[in-house]
Amino acid sequence: MARGRFITFEGGEGAGKSTQVRFLVEALMRSGIDAIATREPGGAPGAELIRKLLVDGPEARWEPLAEAVLHFAARREHVVRTVWPALERGQWVVSDRFADSTMAYQGYGQGADRDAIRSLYRATLGDFAPDLTFVLDVPVPVGLARARAREGGVQSRYERMDPAMHERLRQGFLAIADSEPKRCVTLDAGIGAEAVQAQVRTLVGERLGMNFRG
Ligand code: TMP
Repeated sequence: MARGRFITFEGGEGAGKSTQVRFLVEALMRSGIDAIATREPGGAPGAELIRKLLVDGPEARWEPLAEAVLHFAARREHVVRTVWPALERGQWVVSDRFADSTMAYQGYGQGADRDAIRSLYRATLGDFAPDLTFVLDVPVPVGLARARAREGGVQSRYERMDPAMHERLRQGFLAIADSEPKRCVTLDAGIGAEAVQAQVRTLVGERLGMNFRG
């Protein structure tokens, strides 16, 4: 059986990643491709436990590189227990966030050493990488307001962090996408979910040879 494809959605807060993940998995399934949606931090039992340590509590709970290590510990669990087995079964895997989030949030945003983050990547994932990554870009104030409205005013640990940190991680995502144009595409997430999804399908079609039906 052919190995499945691995597609990731990245971006700051309130960029609409979860909606795009859901839309894409539904479109793949309608077109006869067996696909699963997953998320980070999380996507496996141990990784979901680590998620709680990361998204709740005071902003300064973790030192930035320690925080990156926790994200990679969760990611290793996610990849080994969920992503790789699914790809081997021939399923397509669509993930709400992956390793670019660690480089953007902990590296560019929180100032953890970026070479150390690259080393963590190699140690835990080797040369495994997404087949295609969408960076959904939205201005920081718009994204933070959207995220806050969605959660009924309750803010996660990351949403409570300094807007300047969010600005740095936004620039980080754009820099990552610029440096890896074969893997990454940046999309303007301010144009509405249906319009973003139309672009997503076009790009999945062009880059991964997928023919969508319906
Ligand atoms: P979510 O917004 O997709 O639910 O993700 C939870 C938070 O975790 C989000 O605010 C971004 C943050 N995060 C990192 O800081 N580093 C990472 O590597 C990942 C995967 C998420």
